[in-house]
Amino acid sequence: MKVEHAKPKVGSTVTMDRGDFLSGKYAEDLRALMVERSALVFRGMHLNDEEQLQFASTIGDIFLVGDKPLQNISMDPEINPVADYVRGAFYWHIDGANDPIPAKATMLGARVLAAAGEGGDTLIANTYAAYADLADDEKAKLEGIKVHHALEASQRYITPNPTVAELERWQMRASQSHPLVWHHQHGRASLVLGNTCHYVEGMELGEGNMLLCRLQEWATQDEYVYRHKWEEGDFIIWDNTGTMHRADWYPLDSDRLMRRTTLQGDEPTY
Ligand SMILES: [Fe+2]
Repeated sequence: MKVEHAKPKVGSTVTMDRGDFLSGKYAEDLRALMVERSALVFRGMHLNDEEQLQFASTIGDIFLVGDKPLQNISMDPEINPVADYVRGAFYWHIDGANDPIPAKATMLGARVLAAAGEGGDTLIANTYAAYADLADDEKAKLEGIKVHHALEASQRYITPNPTVAELERWQMRASQSHPLVWHHQHGRASLVLGNTCHYVEGMELGEGNMLLCRLQEWATQDEYVYRHKWEEGDFIIWDNTGTMHRADWYPLDSDRLMRRTTLQGDEPTY
């Protein structure tokens, strides 16, 4: 297994024998490397659905959306019935942040690339590194702060003037309180941020929004962000619990198609 770092603090390209990749020979190493590097890239894999699921199951338990282990990531409503909802992916977020236990990892396998010049890069920000680099007095101030996460918050990016029916639909969905700083079982801590942040609990709204904005701006500085420029057959996996991610804008009628698999989270956010 060969590992090349994209940037000192985030992103690595992993090269290995295809048989070893599928068999899970290095699964334990990859799980550790994913936490250390946030995002792992495997170039030119050209995985089909079955192979993607075979690999995913070597890393963790596959999370089913409805009854499906793979989801189409496309903005075309004919291919992706929840295309409207997926447009939230143009903004920094954590998958499953409205649930008690967010997804452990997310994987994307390229099936159809955006046309040249259309955009559609995937960006992943390392929120362990961003937290680690904060000054100690700032870290102390963030302890104990909780943030309410809700679908309403992320959907307002896309639909800023919702109807009552839309708002009712959003508010029916699960929402969740998470600590701003997640102390993980492996010993590192990360920031829990993104477009699902609705408000900071117990803090005046303006002050809370400023705090979230400031931390998000900090965590998405270039040194913490890996930008993946997709090539045919690429496959990437990231540690969803210690990152935020987003897609760079691309046209809603683009042919871009990714197949996504997420892994079941196994660690509450405290
Ligand atoms: Fe996502």
